[in-house]
Amino acid sequence: MRISKETALKLLQDGNVVGIPTETVYGLGASLFHLKAIKKVFELKGRPLNNPLIVHIASLEDLTNFKPEYPPGFHSLARAFWPGPLTIVLPIDQTTIPNEVRANLSTIAVRMPNHEAALELIKQSGPLVMPSANLSGRPSATKPEHVEMDFGSDFPVLDGGECRKGLESTILHYTGEAFEIIRQGALPCAAFEKVLGYQPQIAIVKNENKPICPGQLYRHYAPKAKLYLRHSFENDCRGIILGFKGRSYPPQCKVICLGDLNIPESIAEKLYDSLREIDIIGIESAFVDMDFPSTGLLSTIKERLQKASLK
Ligand code: TXA
Ligand code: MG
Repeated sequence: MRISKETALKLLQDGNVVGIPTETVYGLGASLFHLKAIKKVFELKGRPLNNPLIVHIASLEDLTNFKPEYPPGFHSLARAFWPGPLTIVLPIDQTTIPNEVRANLSTIAVRMPNHEAALELIKQSGPLVMPSANLSGRPSATKPEHVEMDFGSDFPVLDGGECRKGLESTILHYTGEAFEIIRQGALPCAAFEKVLGYQPQIAIVKNENKPICPGQLYRHYAPKAKLYLRHSFENDCRGIILGFKGRSYPPQCKVICLGDLNIPESIAEKLYDSLREIDIIGIESAFVDMDFPSTGLLSTIKERLQKASLK
């Protein structure tokens, strides 16, 4: 159900959960001041309680209230990328944020979205927690229709049209020596070099009992159809291929085009829509053309397709 900004604000202030557009993906927004709404977010998504939520802010003053510890380089990152698709994990004073939001960690993940309507809502309602607005494990939502697909046509969504980026924010965490990427996202590694003076490494999941980014342990972005990743296609291959513009595939295959590899931004924008589309068509399996480089945004796209293929 599409709602106005005024209704969205009222619902949030009354402790309800609302679908909210951001520049990356739609979020399932709840006020940081309403524990009942925060619990409802986990329930609606079917999200494990040990997977913490990102706190969305509209200004650096919002963040000061959580009494964070700022690692070196934090303010340069915030100046360069906020508002925008960057989430930073910070140690905080734990009394300032409910345990449920942090999943009992001593840190929070925080982001200032670059979306006018989202920022306006946060300014008026105070900080919001917002996981991606999809059922746990499913492709994220980049259109209001996607949110309604997962949560029902009566679920309140503020319609912001299609998300500009189409991939979630990049998450950085400070190891004590340098920033590391704990979730690849809409900002590629190279984007940080001019600000930090180095390209942050992509963290490797080491300790499954105590992961740095709990969400990385779970299945993600997956359609119901089984995806088979391929680097080449034999001529006798049959079925459906998720492929790219300008490539030739075996003629008997039906190709769903993910976009033009020369314009990764356009692939990113439509990726989750394409993954949802194959379930709407109702196919049971598809091949994915993985024969492309892991450069820039394509690295995030590759990672999403890899995760989407896991069962
Ligand atoms: O672009 C985005 O980041 C979107 C939009 C709505 O802002 N949000 C989003 O939230 O992707 P979600 O919940 O789908 O993914 C958040 C990820 C999860 O993998 C979670 O484990 C991780 O952030 N996370 C949250 N708090 C954390 C913390 N304190 N330390 C490490 N990872 C954290
Ligand atoms: Mg998510």
